[in-house]
Amino acid sequence: MPGVYTQLDLSPNAFEQARQQRIATGDLLDLTSSNPTAQGLFFPPELLQQASEAFWATRRYQPDPHGNPAARTAICRYYAERTPGLELDVDDIFLTASTSEAYALLFALLADPGDNLLAPNVTYPLFEYLAELRQLELRPYPLNEAEGWRIDEAGLLAAANRRTRAVLIVSPHNPTGAVVSQPVAALAQLGLPVICDEVFAPFSYGVAHVPPLAALHPDLPVLTLNGISKLFALPDLKLGWIALNQAARSLAPRLELLNDTFLSANSLSQQLLPQLFSSGMPFVQGMVERVRHNLTLALTQLHNHPHIHARPPDGGYYLFPAIRGWEDEDALVHFLMQRGLLVHPGYFYGEVPGTHLMLSALTTPNVFAAGIERLRDCLKNP
Ligand SMILES: Cc1ncc(COP(=O)(O)O)c(C=O)c1O
Repeated sequence: MPGVYTQLDLSPNAFEQARQQRIATGDLLDLTSSNPTAQGLFFPPELLQQASEAFWATRRYQPDPHGNPAARTAICRYYAERTPGLELDVDDIFLTASTSEAYALLFALLADPGDNLLAPNVTYPLFEYLAELRQLELRPYPLNEAEGWRIDEAGLLAAANRRTRAVLIVSPHNPTGAVVSQPVAALAQLGLPVICDEVFAPFSYGVAHVPPLAALHPDLPVLTLNGISKLFALPDLKLGWIALNQAARSLAPRLELLNDTFLSANSLSQQLLPQLFSSGMPFVQGMVERVRHNLTLALTQLHNHPHIHARPPDGGYYLFPAIRGWEDEDALVHFLMQRGLLVHPGYFYGEVPGTHLMLSALTTPNVFAAGIERLRDCLKNP
């Protein structure tokens, strides 16, 4: 059959079938959620209401291939205030419907069918589906678990070939939490455009700040992706952005045409953005504190566990502990599911040596605490 995804088996896998059955019986502690609205995290509705009033009163469709200028100005201010600050030009910002859409635009911007992109091995599952849309190859580069999942620079260099068009970096990384805090010599050596996804930037844990990668590598073309899904817990309002640094500026005219082809960013969400930044930070801080509280609880509870090795992540909102004494991740997650605990197996995120689980520290704290206790007890004497 012609078309995309024809090679995939799209029927629910064994994990999903078991999950649905188990949900029906109740008493399931779910530690897999990345959806803030399912975990009681709601951007203050009164702020959204207040901010949207002007939109309804003055509504005009004024399409701009870059997006609403006031929204872009607010984004520039956000980067200028990061640590270290990053100076961007409003004309180097492009508003999109989401970070995921932004990736798809950049894959089309930077590569032709048959070209390849370097992507971390262990990563949240999205890139493969986007790459297939453009018939691109994803070449995995390794992360070094023993060094806190840092980029394995020799592995990154070895993954590149003459058809490599860009490197994908997620910092803080999903699901390992690794943050790129220093310039990466291998990136400079490759000299390729870097797409850096920093949707978890506010969620620092082991490091004090998440530096914008574009500030660490001013000489490389860096295309920074972010959006309001994670930053403001507003995945349903559909707004993301691409920020080009000066070294990437020559890409702007073609990106302008690409974005103009869809103009998918919602006008209401664009207009809200300045007020999300100006009044939403106390709410963001509350989310960050919840995640930190959950991570600290888990690390304390699991410390010295005979089978679970959890290290403090640099940031993000997940834990990705290694599990000793279990070879089969499927058997492990089914064992836990039968005991009322839902977690993701490591292989959902790529092929890493050893056995891992993914736990989301975005989870409502009482559910998270109960889940960690159950995990600890279930694996004490498996
Ligand atoms: C690292 C990372 N980037 C991007 C996204 C998707 O963001 P958006 O909702 O803006 O498409 C996710 C969603 O989980 C993510 O984990």
